[in-house]
Amino acid sequence: MNKNLDSLTEYPFYFLRELLSTVENNPEETLGLHIGEPKNIPPKEALNLLNKHSDLYSKYPTSKGEYFLRESYCNWLKSRFGIKSIDSDKNVLPISGSREGIFSFIQATIDTSKKNPTVIIPNPFYKIYEGAATMADASTYYVNSLEENNFKPNFKDIPENVLKDCQLLILCSPSNPTGYCIDKDEYLYLLNLAERYDFLVCSDECYTDIYESSHASPPGLLESCDITENNSKAVVFHSLSKRSNLAGLRSGFITANESIINDLLLYRTYHGVTLSLPTQMASSWAWDDSSHVEKNRRDYDKKYEIAISALQDVPKIMRPPGGFYIWLKVPSDDQLFAKRLYEESNVIVLPGSYLAIENERVNPGKGFVRIAIVHEAEIIEQALTAVNQTYTKV
Ligand SMILES: Cc1ncc(COP(=O)(O)O)c(C=O)c1O
Repeated sequence: MNKNLDSLTEYPFYFLRELLSTVENNPEETLGLHIGEPKNIPPKEALNLLNKHSDLYSKYPTSKGEYFLRESYCNWLKSRFGIKSIDSDKNVLPISGSREGIFSFIQATIDTSKKNPTVIIPNPFYKIYEGAATMADASTYYVNSLEENNFKPNFKDIPENVLKDCQLLILCSPSNPTGYCIDKDEYLYLLNLAERYDFLVCSDECYTDIYESSHASPPGLLESCDITENNSKAVVFHSLSKRSNLAGLRSGFITANESIINDLLLYRTYHGVTLSLPTQMASSWAWDDSSHVEKNRRDYDKKYEIAISALQDVPKIMRPPGGFYIWLKVPSDDQLFAKRLYEESNVIVLPGSYLAIENERVNPGKGFVRIAIVHEAEIIEQALTAVNQTYTKV
């Protein structure tokens, strides 16, 4: 087997299971707020299209995807990010969700013939980035996102020797878990660095449509560059999992310059992950339609309202700018807090230290728990009231 498999660490949920394994709770009454899975209902129009075109499951889909789907991607990108030009034949490619897309993109990108290939990753981070870098034989360099900087990743302090070896810098905006959103100036700064040191900027924007309805939408990397330029360093990942509550559909897409898309198309032809034709039809509808996304946002507004008011004893508690988590600073060790909450109330949250690594003598997830604000109102109220109670006791 590939020796890099030995370097893959367990997923955060493995450590969570271990942590809670000694507590005997009734699993049927458990309120699990540890997983970032949408609970809102997927749009029925998309589900109907899957049924209506089920005869097309007999056909092999292409890696490039159908024209109508690529057109939907481009129309959405134009309206969501205000970009003027993008070519549905040259700049987009379907992926089976951003997890698969990012993982395989990293395998296809890292050039091990160069000295010390390095992937720069925000810390805390979505575990897949690290595993993908490990499997691609790359070194990792972590950039802390600390509370004192409002969770802005500290990109300005990346040493020059790391930038010289860097082949890929990963961004996640809105961030899982902190909810921090990167602004246009930061995107520009990072794209300039990418030009200067010749690396790609991989922007995971799967939460880009989840933000407070009355606020401006978080900017995307595409707003700071021209993706149709051949030397563009931007590679952006989008997904229907959160936007449309279609996590099980496994549908997303990549945007990049023509030459990167051509290379990825070749890679993906061998990789062999395609979207079935019914999935493409449902996906095209979901990218074209904005009303279900606006409704989704209003639902999250209500969920956060309930969550924030239940956390009445937490000082200065606020909804983060994007995503659907609360990154809660707890008054004790995060693992102790999660265990105690589970013992006392049968509510599960994810200790933040499982989502980060120790870097520059600090684990930026330590002392935080991640709470997914995805469930229906009654569950959020009950679970967050329990979180508030444990918060006042520890
Ligand atoms: C930051 C981040 N990126 C990517 C993904 C994967 O999403 P998808 O369902 O599009 O594969 C997730 C899922 O939770 C995530 O939190």
